[in-house]
Amino acid sequence: MELLVEGVSHAYGALPVLEGIDLAVRPGEILSLIGPSGSGKSTLLGIMGGLLRPYAGRVSTRGRPPAGCLNPLTYVFQDFALLPWRSVAGNVSLALDHHRLPAGERRERVADALARMGLADFAAAFPRQLSGGMRQRVGIARALVVRPAVLLLDEPLSALDAQTRDLLTEEFLAIWQRERTTAVHVTHNLGEALRLADRIAVLSRRPGRVREILPVDVPREERSAAARAGRIAELHAHLWALLRDEARAADLELAEPARGGR
Ligand SMILES: Nc1ncnc2c1ncn2[C@@H]1O[C@H](COP(=O)(O)OP(=O)(O)OP(=O)(O)O)[C@@H](O)[C@H]1O
Ligand SMILES: [Mg+2]
Repeated sequence: MELLVEGVSHAYGALPVLEGIDLAVRPGEILSLIGPSGSGKSTLLGIMGGLLRPYAGRVSTRGRPPAGCLNPLTYVFQDFALLPWRSVAGNVSLALDHHRLPAGERRERVADALARMGLADFAAAFPRQLSGGMRQRVGIARALVVRPAVLLLDEPLSALDAQTRDLLTEEFLAIWQRERTTAVHVTHNLGEALRLADRIAVLSRRPGRVREILPVDVPREERSAAARAGRIAELHAHLWALLRDEARAADLELAEPARGGR
């Protein structure tokens, strides 16, 4: 499914956070969203998912959702957002609580999502027994259990150590390659964006505007650590230059109110 963002602007009270965002997330692509802290990335994701109503503009979807889709748009959160008193299977089935499903289909969906994330043997475990990487696998399984049309991932790997992050990145890619779920992926990690994305949208400092949309024109098989040289290194340098300017300017702006007045 395609996700269209047209002329979206948003503010929290007097604070403008997004301005005139136009984005078309193509069916089956991974679009990474990067930008300085506070540039409105999470806000934009919330607007895409319908958690927030923008004060201007609109979000729409086009195309047919995949078979068995219960929620067209589904989130994966940075902090996993698992309930500690529910087992792994219980946390995954949480996403089905609002849907009336026959018990058999419910069990089948949960088992399938767990299997896809390599969690089949951990169905009865509790979050506290799991590593961070395993917890986020549960978070992703919970998103997949509704067979979403578009996955919205807000810094899904940023709470993990570097190795676990690399591992989950590869796993996520393997799953995505099988299913081609359209995904919007927010990250601060340029390497992660360059590994995952078909295109990278760079937001300016607050209020976030789309500064540039950069296609990652290198096949994914050639992007792994060994292939960092050449084109990927060039893209990395370009993204970093864009971000550095915006981040510097944003730092100065945040310092402004403290200097003003007295
Ligand atoms: N509910 C809210 N009420 C008021 N201000 C908010 C609210 N949520 C976010 N903000 C402010 O809006 C701006 C954009 O926030 P948002 O979380 O969308 O940015 P972000 O790009 O996701 O930042 P980060 O990279 O730190 O996650 C920030 O300045 C933030 O402090
Ligand atoms: Mg955020």
